[in-house]
Amino acid sequence: MKHLLKLMDLSETEILELLNTADQLKYEKHNGIEHHHLKGKTLGMIFSKSSTRTRVSFEVGMYDLGGQALFLSSAHTQIGRGEPVEDTARVLSRYLDGIMIRTFEQEEVENLAKYGSIPIINGLTDYCHPCQVLADLMTIREHKGKLAGNKLVFIGDGNNMANSLIVGGIKTGMEVAVACPKSHQPDPEIMKWAAENGKFTCTDDIMAACKDADVLYTDVWASMGQEGEAAERKKIFEGYQINSEVMAVAHADAMVLHCLPAHRGEEITAEVMEAHADEIFDEAENRLHAQKAVLVKLLGGDSTTDLCN
Ligand code: CP
Ligand code: NVA
Repeated sequence: MKHLLKLMDLSETEILELLNTADQLKYEKHNGIEHHHLKGKTLGMIFSKSSTRTRVSFEVGMYDLGGQALFLSSAHTQIGRGEPVEDTARVLSRYLDGIMIRTFEQEEVENLAKYGSIPIINGLTDYCHPCQVLADLMTIREHKGKLAGNKLVFIGDGNNMANSLIVGGIKTGMEVAVACPKSHQPDPEIMKWAAENGKFTCTDDIMAACKDADVLYTDVWASMGQEGEAAERKKIFEGYQINSEVMAVAHADAMVLHCLPAHRGEEITAEVMEAHADEIFDEAENRLHAQKAVLVKLLGGDSTTDLCN
């Protein structure tokens, strides 16, 4: 594993190794045990979109590991003025030990990896959000005691979150169901792969998808970059909501997860959100631990091999 560009690139074993490392790092953090595995290392964080969790958890994660992180807003670097990614990749590779990038096109992330010579981590594109799903898997395993055998249901827009959840869920042996409007289904190639490699369904029937769910997951109706479509999207996604009726057809002990930020009254009711706040905010916390595992694996070199196995 040289980069984290998308979860499809990782084997089930690699995913589970990262989750084991994340569990260990969480235990150490909660018990005040410090390990500066990345002493002297610098992570560049390129952001072409907003962020609370991703920015703060990567920055704190690098600090915890003895390194440092640089916030590089695309609007305030030459990236925003059109400097080609091929050049940015080669320049930043001479200064930094790794790059985390949040942007629109998956191709930009892939090209950073292609032209640069340091590890690249995808901090969200329109196509996928692998860091979020590593934290989600960690949270499901923490609360349910296992991953394989659970039924994971995603309700909402079939874009970045849905795409990564399908891949992460199927790779770790979960049954995955997606409930979304026919016009907003996940990536066709990912759905084809999921159907061939596990138990997968995609339907516009929310109740059918949520029946006997162990984990219910939702995300905003209008993603970053789609703010201008918000009114239209409210009509398209009306009803694609985690509410008490949906919870009633899921298993009685079903978990609820949300990548956040949440819009109460749209994709989730305030009542369900508050009833499952422990799970949702554990999930947010786990961004820190899961990403530290990724950083140690990618930037840590040989000295940290033990931690990842
Ligand atoms: N879930 C997530 O990626 O949050 P931010 O947009 O705040 O980073
Ligand atoms: N689908 C959302 C996820 C935010 C973490 C977005 O892209 O804005």
